[in-house]
Amino acid sequence: MRILVLNGPNLNMLGTREPHIYGATTLADIEQALTARAARANASVHCVQSNHEGVLIDTIQQEHAASSGIIINPGAFTHYSYAIRDALSAVACPIIEVHISNVYKREPFRHHSVIAPIATGQMAGLGWQGYLMALEWLLLTQTAA
Ligand code: DQA
Repeated sequence: MRILVLNGPNLNMLGTREPHIYGATTLADIEQALTARAARANASVHCVQSNHEGVLIDTIQQEHAASSGIIINPGAFTHYSYAIRDALSAVACPIIEVHISNVYKREPFRHHSVIAPIATGQMAGLGWQGYLMALEWLLLTQTAA
């Protein structure tokens, strides 16, 4: 079982980026925790971060067929990328949208996600551990691919 973990723009800066909002944990720390958790379940994660919309779309198109689920934090693309939404809409596996911060408590432009209507579910406001919760759900619900 293989899970695709996608992170969008600016998430490579976790750890130093607005730590009062996003915490001190780096993306490398998060990916390491996900890798370790997946390994305990005889599963694996394939982690990709990009600041570029097209790279995220290419990765979805190339990797979804080999994936039992997708965990995606689209960053600011959450709020306006119909192209990422369309790419995700075309895949068969479950999609969990993750936000480190509680976007609903923040600026109004963050309250709307164009991804949420086509996602299986969403984690928001649980810090970096939201990624682990998303992985836990996929491990619980998805059979081996
Ligand atoms: C975010 C929330 C988005 O509004 C923001 O643009 C991000 C991170 C989060 O994880 O809380 O880059 O997706």
